[in-house]
Amino acid sequence: MAPKIAIVFYSMYGHIRTLAEAEKRGIEKAGGTCDLYQVAETLPAEVLTKMHAPGQKSDIPILTDPATLEQYDGFLMGIPTRFGNFPAQWKAFWDKTGGQWASGGFHGKFAGVFISTASPAAARSPRRLPWGAGSFAAGDGSRQPSAKELEVAEIQGEQFYKVVNNGPAASDENKKTATTADNTTASGNQTASDANEPKEKKSKGEGPCGLPKKCVVQ
Ligand SMILES: Cc1cc2nc3c(=O)[nH]c(=O)nc-3n(C[C@H](O)[C@H](O)[C@H](O)COP(=O)(O)O)c2cc1C
Repeated sequence: MAPKIAIVFYSMYGHIRTLAEAEKRGIEKAGGTCDLYQVAETLPAEVLTKMHAPGQKSDIPILTDPATLEQYDGFLMGIPTRFGNFPAQWKAFWDKTGGQWASGGFHGKFAGVFISTASPAAARSPRRLPWGAGSFAAGDGSRQPSAKELEVAEIQGEQFYKVVNNGPAASDENKKTATTADNTTASGNQTASDANEPKEKKSKGEGPCGLPKKCVVQ
């Protein structure tokens, strides 16, 4: 069965949303589909007005219940910068995931990140690891994602889908196809993506921390 991907983002001024749409195009280019969700706004309308923020559009559903994500095999998360950190809107979402923490509801899911910052300095902050696509918005937010930044976001979506499609969620048939297409060099040597195969599969269900099926190192 084809893997299910969700792109979840918070975007106050639209930069992250534009990148999210590019990530979606990349996933579709790789032959997949995905659903877009927005993390809920936490600021009152009065504050948003003072920040010259347009407010969330209703064309993309708001992700209120994190359990919705349990049905997906992988998530791409769009995260703008707030004072060198990630926004409180995202924190409010994560603070609702106690149920998934307790049940392991997100265990084994794939995840990726894309970001937007005003400046390159913020992009280098540790918050940004692991690396993903990104866009600079400039101090006043006037700069829009460039064609190159959108291309990188599209490539991230495409590659993310391929990795998920070749991972535990994939059917044997999908894995066979993807392995033949992507992982074999002309000399027949194993490539980096082979080396990145989830260890879980190689160690008969035991994660690297020793607990059965608790950790998967990508
Ligand atoms: C309250 C606030 C704090 C911000 N802090 C930073 C920051 O520390 N570093 C930075 O590069 N950009 C910072 N920015 C700029 C935003 O990260 C940038 O405008 C945003 O990524 C644009 O994404 P969006 O249009 O999807 O909301 C800040 C913006 C706001 C509103």
